[in-house]
This record gives sequence, C-alpha cells and structure tokens, in this order.
Amino acid sequence: MEIKSVILAAGKGTRMKSDTAKVLHKIFDKPIIAYVLDSTKDITSENFVIVGHHADDVKAFVEKNYRNAKTVLQSPQLGTGHAVSMACPYLEDFEGQVIILNGDLPLMRSESLKKFIDYHNSKNSDLTIMSTILDDPASYGRVIREADNSLKSIVEAKDTTPEQKAVKEINVGVYLLNWRKIKAAFSQLTTNNAQGEYYLTDIIEWGKKNNLNVHAFILENSDESYGINSRKDLAYATKIMNERKLNSLMDNGVTIVDPSSTWISEDTEIGTDTTIYPFTYIEGKNKIGKNCKIGPCAHLRGDVEIDDNCKIGNFVEVKKSKIGHNTNAGHLSYIGDSELGSHINIGAGTITANFDPITGTKSKTVLKDNVKIGSNTVLVAPVEIGEGTNIGAGSVITKNIGEWALGLTRAPLRVIAGWVKRK
Ligand code: UD1
Ligand code: CA
Repeated sequence: MEIKSVILAAGKGTRMKSDTAKVLHKIFDKPIIAYVLDSTKDITSENFVIVGHHADDVKAFVEKNYRNAKTVLQSPQLGTGHAVSMACPYLEDFEGQVIILNGDLPLMRSESLKKFIDYHNSKNSDLTIMSTILDDPASYGRVIREADNSLKSIVEAKDTTPEQKAVKEINVGVYLLNWRKIKAAFSQLTTNNAQGEYYLTDIIEWGKKNNLNVHAFILENSDESYGINSRKDLAYATKIMNERKLNSLMDNGVTIVDPSSTWISEDTEIGTDTTIYPFTYIEGKNKIGKNCKIGPCAHLRGDVEIDDNCKIGNFVEVKKSKIGHNTNAGHLSYIGDSELGSHINIGAGTITANFDPITGTKSKTVLKDNVKIGSNTVLVAPVEIGEGTNIGAGSVITKNIGEWALGLTRAPLRVIAGWVKRK
C-alpha cells in the first residue's frame, strides 16, 4: 500500500539554546532532519515536513535536497496533533497509509520502520504506535495498557499519575495510520492537558472510541528511539551512530585499530581489508576502496572517492575529490576539489590551493596517472598536470603542465661561505 509521511519539525527546540533550528543541527555534517528523511527512503512516496521555528531555513534545506518532500508551515505551534493537522489539506483524498515521525529521531533505522509497518499490516491494525522499554523513561510519553495488555493510551510525562509515571514503556514518536479511518481525529483533538497543547498521542483514545484497531509495536533496540532535545543528546546520538557504523564496518572486513578514537559517518562505504588508524575523522558521503590505509589523524570531509590500495596518512585532509588506485598522500597535505589518477605520489606538505578569496570561488586540480609531486608543493587551481610529470619540491605551480615533464619553481640557492663566523 502507498505510504506518505508527515515529519514533525516545527518545534522550537528550546533546550538546544541555539539560533539554528533544532532539526538542522548536524551529526557528521548532516542535519538531523536529513537522517529522518533518509530513513523513509524506499518506504514513502511523498513526505510532508511540518516547519515553524526557523521555517525558511528548514524549508530551504529540505526542498533543495529532497525532491519528494514538501514543507508545510505551522504557525503558531500548538502541539504535535495540531502539527499533523497542517498536512490534512494535502492528504484529503489519500487512500493509503500515513507514517508520522517526530523530526528529532536521527537514530531510527529504516529496517526498524519496515518491521514496524509489517507488524501493523500483520495485525490488520488501523493505528499503530512504536514503543520501547527504557530504564529511565524520563520525560517521554508513557504507554498505558489495559488489563489484557492491549493498548489503552499514551500519557505525557507531565500529565501522569505517580503510578503511570513509573511505567517504563514509552512512546517513541513514530505512528502508522490507515489515513482514511483516522484523518477525522485531527479536527476533534482538544487541549485539555497540562501543556494546553493539541497532543498527537490523543488519537489512540480517539481510535478506540471509534472502534478502530490500535496496536503498539515494541522496538527492541531502544537506542533508535533516542530523541534530540539538547546538545548533550546530540553528542550522545553521534556516539551511538558512530559505534553502530564502526561495528558494521568491522563485521564487513574493515580493520578499525582504535574504535574509541575513530569517527566515521553513516554514509561512508569502505572496502574489505582497509585499515583505519586512530584519530581519524570521516564525515559526509564517501567511498573508500579495498586495501587502503587511512590515518592516523586523517580527515575526510565528504564527497571523497578513494580507489583500492591507496594511503591517506597523518594530518592529510581530503574534501570533494576522486583518488585513483595505488595513489599515496602520506603526510600533512590538503587535497580539495581534485581529481587524482592512479599511482600518484603526493609529497609531504602538498596543498591544492582551491579557493580564490577575491572571487570566492573554488577551482579544480587534476593530476593524471603516475604524477609525482615533490614535498611542500602548492598546486594553485585551476591546474592540470599531465601523465607521469614530476614536480620539484617546494614549487608553486600556477599553470598547466603536459605529460612526462619536470616542473619546478625554485629560488636559486645561495651559499655564502664563512658567513656565520664573520658575524
Ligand atoms: C513527544 C510525544 C511523546 C514522546 C516523545 C518522543 C506528544 C504530545 N508527545 O513529546 O509522547 O514520548 O515525543 O520523543 O506528541 N512539533 C511540531 N509542532 C508543534 C510541537 C512539536 O512540529 O507544535 C515537533 C517538534 O519539532 C518535534 C516533535 O514534534 O520534532 C516532537 O515534539 P516535542 O516537543 O519534542 O515532543 P516531546 O515533548 O518530546
Ligand atoms: Ca522531543
């Protein structure tokens, strides 16, 4: 059945204490909202993102990066139930299912969403919520069950009785609705609660009153339910996400010498028998081949493609570049906006000067196969070095050079004999 999503991202995020929208805060250089949208890939045909605080910024990000996503303004923000009702006009004739996701759940995996949807379908449910069990249920909504263990309601922490407060099953903030049957609920919610808001969670009681089939799916790995409300949450989520990534890489044949000092983004692919040395930080989307050595202390900043058998050594930073097989950049270099062929050696301290501060533009450096760059070279882009050419150490290269040549710029060496003694 066709599924569309409503993603709630209009809230203020007060506890972030920030001038940036909460959902635009980043984990490995990718905004929280992008993780949520990516988790719906292969699941939804269209996504409605509800925006409010910093609406323009969130709208710009979402619409630039996701073609199947629309933003809908919620102003003022009167609660999560009110937020969903903003999408109702766009879903008036929709006959499929709607998955609602809080916009601050970057750790939710699409595999878990798929299990959740399968559960909903297998139970012939009309409305399914996702729950999980937490030792410390903190300020999450509590999942209240009937004597026969079926779902009764969700009670927000601020509205609980002491007995309800002790419940450890919490509402994750993911809901699946047979839309045609539930849509009427959104014009009937009330604000009769501690926060005076329209609670999305009240649709459960509404569903029960209207004889609909409601269920709770218990998420096994409660880490995925971790919502971001503060900077501490952001740091913790980054850590969980990193551990998950490193474990999956190690399971797939990548050596991580020291997982406690290595950071690798979710969107980085790494081939087998590659070794990642300590203090390496890899953010954004990257593809690293087999049998490479990366680090220690390497920094890959995204849009980096490295083919097999390469070495990116200590204090080497790479951004938006393609590197062919058997190419080495061992020490203290910056490679940005570059296209490097195979069997290249980049000497220590080589810099691709890709940024022109006068025009504010960036240009490309192209090095063909078998080029050897001497230490401490500056390649001033745009520049292209032909196949097999060598560049002498300490050169500043400002023009293209053809193949199999030697290029060097060097002030003549002066030796003044006895100079020190005379002084
Ligand atoms: C909500 C749930 C709670 C659940 C928790 C999980 C409700 C009433 N409560 O609580 O049961 O345990 O999430 O993390 O839904 N938002 C809007 N417009 C609004 C208000 C909020 O778009 O008017 C968005 C926020 O940006 C956020 C999401 O909805 O992404 C959840 O809102 P938040 O205020 O964080 O809800 P919680 O109190 O965490
Ligand atoms: Ca929240």
